[in-house]
Amino acid sequence: MLQFDVTHALPFLPKNWLSSRLDGLTDARNLLERGNGLGGEFTGWVNLPAQFDQREMQRLLHTARIIQSQSEVLVVIGIGGSYLGARAMLELLTSPNYNLLCKKTPQIFFTGNTLSPDAMTELLDYVREKDFSVNVVSKSGNTTEPSVAFLLFRQLLEEKYGREGARDRIFATTDRKEGSLRALANQEGYATFSIPRSIGGRYSALTAAGLLPLAVAGLDIREMLSGAAEAMTALRQPGQDNPAWQYAAARNALYAQGKNIELLACYEPHLRSFGEWWKQLFGESEGKDGQGVFPASVEFTTDLHSMGQYIQEGTRDLFETVVRFTYPLSSCLLDPEPGDGSGLDYLRGKDLRYVNEQARRGTVLAHVAGGVPNLLLTAGERTPFWAGQLVYFFEYACGLSGYLSGLNPFNQPGVEAYKTNMFALLGKPGHEGQRQALADQGLL
Ligand code: PA5
Repeated sequence: MLQFDVTHALPFLPKNWLSSRLDGLTDARNLLERGNGLGGEFTGWVNLPAQFDQREMQRLLHTARIIQSQSEVLVVIGIGGSYLGARAMLELLTSPNYNLLCKKTPQIFFTGNTLSPDAMTELLDYVREKDFSVNVVSKSGNTTEPSVAFLLFRQLLEEKYGREGARDRIFATTDRKEGSLRALANQEGYATFSIPRSIGGRYSALTAAGLLPLAVAGLDIREMLSGAAEAMTALRQPGQDNPAWQYAAARNALYAQGKNIELLACYEPHLRSFGEWWKQLFGESEGKDGQGVFPASVEFTTDLHSMGQYIQEGTRDLFETVVRFTYPLSSCLLDPEPGDGSGLDYLRGKDLRYVNEQARRGTVLAHVAGGVPNLLLTAGERTPFWAGQLVYFFEYACGLSGYLSGLNPFNQPGVEAYKTNMFALLGKPGHEGQRQALADQGLL
């Protein structure tokens, strides 16, 4: 199981940081278990790893093989929770350079998460000459960014392969019954996977939304679910030794001390997109009612040379949560010739993993001395099993943490504000009132 270490945050925490929150955590846990808290209808993810439908798993693996056999490229279209989990896991378990390194599996590109015409054109041009398939992911089936991208990539598929041929290359992951994407998929006869109604976007990494692209990349998604299932069994047990309880309590207590910003820090480029997934998870779950820890992420050691100064000496409202693996998958021995002018004699015989670990330890000491509390979460190895544990750990801790703060961790009402204005500006039917309001303010 994952190890959580609060030692380097203790100097900043009151003695009762955990004991004073045990009642709140018990209540939060019971709300998650019973599904009767705020947004309780969206707690289907709590039990998902144990209940994953094995026929769905077989279909996922079968579909992945079809996509592999017919595609040089898989284009994954989705935004927010409908792509961040897949991207985070792909980069964590393969590499941020997956598309350069993959030899036997299709390249995977994520789009539908931007409205940039340049980014869209770049990818359309790239796949024009390739054999490609599309996995369009949208739980609601109505989100503008993926809908627009799907329109463009579907047109390209139909141009290249005809309407029939395109049908065999489109895989839609969406709600079982509702939304425009479901209606279109039914009408056109696309292969589909469902995102359960009871699982919101940012908690959907372990559904087909996250798993299909990973299976296409050849990753062992069953192992990922077993890791998540192990975490689920451990973390649903109540008690102060529960690492998710400790994490939720520690960040809640640090926030109460004025530590308003949490930096998810890592020492592995493979975890960079994991930081993006985590930011959405906590940002959308807790940033509401004028409250919430602001989630940010940094990748060390590179960001020690960009953000390090601020972290060490800037406004003292930060704390860090480091995610690390006990064992990297590779070793890299440093063997400078004595006196070769490199100035690195002191590293002779040392492995780069040791150097990276000393960088982490040195950074903790510096940051704690500078007033930045440090939480540490340690996983075993960078494998699907441990990735499943990490995903479940943060989802569960986020649910607990939201309820501990008295929030609904499963809605995101604020996300609508930009859409209302954008639709009014674009003249979308149904938004005439807002368009008039903008006109009255001279904002059109
Ligand atoms: O967490 C969420 O619910 C959101 O980030 C959604 O995932 C995002 O807005 C995309 O929505 P949809 O999957 O309906 O297109």
